[in-house]
Amino acid sequence: MFAVYAESFSSDDPLAGLVVGERPAPEAPEGWATVTVKAASLNHHDLWSLRGVGLREESLPMILGCDAAGLDEDGNEVVVHAVIGDPGRGGDETLDPGRSLLSEKHQGTLADQVVVPRRNLVPKPASLSFEEAACLPTAYLTAYRMLFTQGRLTPGETVLVQGAGGGVATALIILGRAAGLRVLATSRDEAKRSRAVELGAHEAYESGARLPVKVDAVMETVGRATWSHSVRSLRPGGRIVISGTTSGPRLDDAELTRIFFLQLAVIGSTMGTRHELDALVKFLDATGTRPLLDRTLPMEQAREGFAAMAGGDVFGKIVFTR
Ligand SMILES: NC(=O)c1ccc[n+]([C@@H]2O[C@H](COP(=O)([O-])OP(=O)(O)OC[C@H]3O[C@@H](n4cnc5c(N)ncnc54)[C@H](OP(=O)(O)O)[C@@H]3O)[C@@H](O)[C@H]2O)c1
Repeated sequence: MFAVYAESFSSDDPLAGLVVGERPAPEAPEGWATVTVKAASLNHHDLWSLRGVGLREESLPMILGCDAAGLDEDGNEVVVHAVIGDPGRGGDETLDPGRSLLSEKHQGTLADQVVVPRRNLVPKPASLSFEEAACLPTAYLTAYRMLFTQGRLTPGETVLVQGAGGGVATALIILGRAAGLRVLATSRDEAKRSRAVELGAHEAYESGARLPVKVDAVMETVGRATWSHSVRSLRPGGRIVISGTTSGPRLDDAELTRIFFLQLAVIGSTMGTRHELDALVKFLDATGTRPLLDRTLPMEQAREGFAAMAGGDVFGKIVFTR
């Protein structure tokens, strides 16, 4: 079958190991379902995989992609939950120490078909297109859990989103605004700041700029480049929710004094549960809120999408269609 996969790793040139070609069609084990992929979206995770982060040499070749929407064997329209955990464990799948994301241990979604445990299928409402639904399982689910589960944000509170252009960051702006939050955003780029405001941010500032107010919570995916600013932007008792470190995990100053003196909370967040994905889908269906697509490409042109993400030339999600 047609597939986009990693053949080798390169930390400097991640696209060197990317192949747009053919792989054997997957076979669904007992209790798993085969999904015919209609749309799949790209995440920074796919670039990390090509750099050899989170993926082992012995797992190659590996079909990339965490996110998909498509049809199950009965023709039902579904969204695929990308977190694969131990079926016997129960509870919050993101806390399962043995969990993995599609394309880490199990073949990913950038292909004609993907197999997943049947419980990982979430019904897709007719109001969402396949392209929109394919944006949800990683970036939008991560944003949903960051804001509402880990961040415990409620209408009227103020949130700061760092690095406005990213896939998770645009999801945070869109979902935060739709849920009645006051949304502030930062970006290094003037054009991205304008677009963040068009998207729903109340105000957008240059990265590192002093804010006119202290915020209730900061949503972090950038890491080293913005960490100090995130800590300094919080009110006493505020919280940072962190799910990524795009600019690197090693800090020049962790701002520990400020963290204890202002009694700040630092909360990690990773992906989300199947239950949260279902809640997110229903939230979009009920509110009419939609993900922001940077561009839609036929999956055969996947290399173009990977190159755009590697170059940072993205505002919103890159979606591949079949
Ligand atoms: N834990 C999880 O479950 C989970 C899920 C999804 C993503 N993630 C992680 O979250 C991060 C973002 O993912 P994504 O898919 O949204 O990636 P992305 O679309 O590539 O996000 C890139 C954004 O990061 C900002 N940025 C990058 N370098 C920066 C720097 N030096 N200084 C300031 N800002 C910088 C940029 O914002 P501006 O250009 O606007 O300044 C850029 O738009 C990644 O590290 C990813 O691995 C984690």
